[in-house]
Amino acid sequence: MRILFVGDVFGSAGRRIVREHLGHVLNTQEIDLLVVNAENSAGGFGVTPAIADELFDLGAHVLTTGNHVWDKREIIEYMQSVPAGSHERPRRVLRPANYVAGTPGHGVYEGQLANGQTYAVMNLQGRVFMASNEDPFRVADRLLEQIKARVILVDFHAEATSEKVALGWYLDGRVTAVLGTHTHVPTADNRVLPGGTAYQTDVGMSGPYDSVIGVEKELVLQRFLSGMPGKFEAAKGDPRMAALLIECDGATGRATSTQRMLLGE
Ligand SMILES: [Fe+2]
Ligand SMILES: [Fe+2]
Repeated sequence: MRILFVGDVFGSAGRRIVREHLGHVLNTQEIDLLVVNAENSAGGFGVTPAIADELFDLGAHVLTTGNHVWDKREIIEYMQSVPAGSHERPRRVLRPANYVAGTPGHGVYEGQLANGQTYAVMNLQGRVFMASNEDPFRVADRLLEQIKARVILVDFHAEATSEKVALGWYLDGRVTAVLGTHTHVPTADNRVLPGGTAYQTDVGMSGPYDSVIGVEKELVLQRFLSGMPGKFEAAKGDPRMAALLIECDGATGRATSTQRMLLGE
């Protein structure tokens, strides 16, 4: 079984480069399951129902997010528009599972491909240098007790490399992949851990690389130099699609190989 995970899609430049490459990659690489992190897909901040639809139309089975999930408020109503047991698109847009109790939406989705293969996607957020949420390690334990699928992909949306590496080891042998998102720079440490879990500290941003992690670089520089707040705008230049291809055994959920992708114009 072959899984493609596309890192944080950032703004219109990110959506365009993903649109440009995805069809070809899905066909030539014979991808069975496609998961896309969409937290920055709407102008760099959040995701709208229309953009979620656009990504589903491109073939995504599940969309993950992170700290920017609520930037576009209309996504709340969208997520709540179907019941918890639904398999409709709004149920397949996730927010981190370890947000405090009562937060709208869901952090896990369990589904089935047309060929009968079952899978689960879990979204978690880190606690180091980030807003407070529940312990991602313990929440993962709790959720794994309920998940029936053997193929399980975890998007760990976190700032600190140490926390991401630690969760990779913690879940090794229990999930198919632990993939980092949020820091927007692809790391060169993709590998399969000894227990059969694919790991990468950060898959990287699918967006404009002529930028500071997606934002117009002049605006970010101005903020660093002046210490004054200013409006951030999504950059456009040098778009690339960052993704990780994972090969795994569909019956056991164990990963066998990983391949990094960074596709430009
Ligand atoms: Fe992001
Ligand atoms: Fe983020």
